[in-house]
Amino acid sequence: MFNKLLKKLNSTEPETDLFIKRIRSLVIGEGMLRDGNIELFKHAIEHLPQDGHVIEIGSYGGLSTNLINYLLIKNNKPNMLYSCDAWIYEGYTDHLKPVADNYIDGRPDVLRTNYESYMKDAFIRATTWLSAHRLPHSFHMKSDIFFEYWKENKQATDVFGRTISLGGQISFAYVDGDHSYESAWKDFNHVDEFLVPKGFILLDDSADDQSFGSAKMMKEIKKDSRYKIVGKNPNYLIQKIA
Ligand SMILES: C[S@@+](CC[C@H](N)C(=O)[O-])C[C@H]1O[C@@H](n2cnc3c(N)ncnc32)[C@H](O)[C@@H]1O
Repeated sequence: MFNKLLKKLNSTEPETDLFIKRIRSLVIGEGMLRDGNIELFKHAIEHLPQDGHVIEIGSYGGLSTNLINYLLIKNNKPNMLYSCDAWIYEGYTDHLKPVADNYIDGRPDVLRTNYESYMKDAFIRATTWLSAHRLPHSFHMKSDIFFEYWKENKQATDVFGRTISLGGQISFAYVDGDHSYESAWKDFNHVDEFLVPKGFILLDDSADDQSFGSAKMMKEIKKDSRYKIVGKNPNYLIQKIA
């Protein structure tokens, strides 16, 4: 049974849902979302525990946010989607040396400082268009701050101007923010604190052949007996046993 499921979640069969086929060309971020993640989203959402919110860390232009939201609606799941992003430009070598100037990679005439409003606006426009009848609660925050609010049930205003109290149990988390080892662990531990039994975590950039900190973390999570692997496509979808 387990092997059959792993095999199914290992596939990249042609997509039959026309909106899922289409969304990649509608929303910025095609290169950020691996095809294989889509099967894993579907599995997590189809088997979502009733209680608990859905969380996304790292929204970028809204591709995965709108896809997850669509799958929640398609599967008649009332679970609310919350997301956060800091929308800070990340250059190719920022993690190796101090940032020397204020320009984007390869363009000494295009300012990094305009990136934040460009990408945040793109997210808002895509989401108000594609998820108008059930907007997620999306916050302009680093994940550390987001979880501080979550832990303390603090009120915050989302990017659509709605003020709500954050917090509660989590049924599924898509972790796709800062992929460094330290940050990936922080995000995982924050989610773990609120994840219900049978709840899911999909860790982006956790595949065996990747060199990100998130992939190194995944190798260590495999030893955690509280979690089982339900899919690997090639990123890992894990489920909390207890
Ligand atoms: C790979 S992109 C996300 C792609 C998106 N999930 C999709 O598939 O459409 C990673 C995002 O994480 C955000 N990010 C990086 N560090 C973060 C942090 N500490 N907290 C929240 N978001 C962060 C970046 O701004 C970027 O938009």
